[in-house]
Amino acid sequence: MKIAVFSARPYDRRSLDACNQQGYAADGFEFIYFDATLDAHTAALAQDCDAVCVFVNDRLDAPVLQALHALGVRAVVLRCAGFNNVDLAAAEQLGFFVARVPAYSPEAVAEHTLALIMTLNRQTHRAYNRVREGNFMLDGLLGRTLHGKTVGIVGTGKIGLATARILHGMGCTVLGHDPYPSPEFDALGSTVPLDELLARSDIVSLHCPLTTQTQHMIDEASLARMKPGAMLVNTSRGGLVDTDAVIRALKSHHLGHLAIDVYEQESALFFQDRSGEIIDDDVFQRLMTFPNVLVTGHQGFFTAEALQEIAETTLGNLVHFAAGSECPNRVTKA
Ligand code: NAI
Repeated sequence: MKIAVFSARPYDRRSLDACNQQGYAADGFEFIYFDATLDAHTAALAQDCDAVCVFVNDRLDAPVLQALHALGVRAVVLRCAGFNNVDLAAAEQLGFFVARVPAYSPEAVAEHTLALIMTLNRQTHRAYNRVREGNFMLDGLLGRTLHGKTVGIVGTGKIGLATARILHGMGCTVLGHDPYPSPEFDALGSTVPLDELLARSDIVSLHCPLTTQTQHMIDEASLARMKPGAMLVNTSRGGLVDTDAVIRALKSHHLGHLAIDVYEQESALFFQDRSGEIIDDDVFQRLMTFPNVLVTGHQGFFTAEALQEIAETTLGNLVHFAAGSECPNRVTKA
């Protein structure tokens, strides 16, 4: 079976090839790697392939799915948990097998969330540069003791829960908001309405999926409900946050800190080296001017353990597709 792997970086090739060599399928799979992101222009690269293997910024809207179907592609295997980039109605209508990696080291993303919170709170990113330049002044590096502070976790699923466990261990009061409250979370903190979470939290961390209901859940109105000087952290999906509203809240000093690993327009920037180019996204560039904003380029998942889990689950999903057997990771519209 031939699989066109889009948005393939060297680490994707290494982990998929290593897993393939371990004999997941009797004859192994034939992976054809493309650096390109999947979209209407690049879909033709999947000529002669049975499946496409894609990541967060590959675009699988109806026209792309139709183009893939016309080429004979019948399966979409996602190397990620989120599937907001797939038009599931169109995929289902065309009879595509769509499967994802529902969980890969939720702790990896939770630990990165903590790295962002700790860095921004104690300004270690600025301290690093200062000390290297021989500047040992502390002015401007003042942080807050996190022990005893209140952290609001929006989405208490696998990653939210893992984040809550760490923060609880640090002595924080943990609040959660989720339409499906979990008993595991309730053992660590209290589930409260979103407005109460926003009003009480010193740090708000987003861990819910991007859907039509959650898009721009952090907007002008919800930012106004947050405590003055609070920190907003988003390691989930960029579309959860209205970035223009966030910039206004930063400019008015109402929002104290912003840490993001995801950005609504990230597909034009992330996972690429744009260091020698003019970046024409003025909203992103405005964010870069704030000393109290920290951005990483969607690296929450990026640990050796998570890459191995992604490769193993992806090959497992392909085995199910090849055998026509029931796949636990299949994504359907219902
Ligand atoms: P999960 O499915 O275990 O948990 C998501 C939780 O959000 C569920 O409990 C769900 O009930 C809840 N939820 C749904 N709608 C909500 C709403 N309106 N308000 C509050 N909660 C709501 O998913 P998991 O594994 O914890 O992943 C969460 C998100 O993290 C994914 O959707 C993905 O977008 C993102 N992610 C980011 C990565 C990164 O590298 N930065 C890597 C992996 C996932």
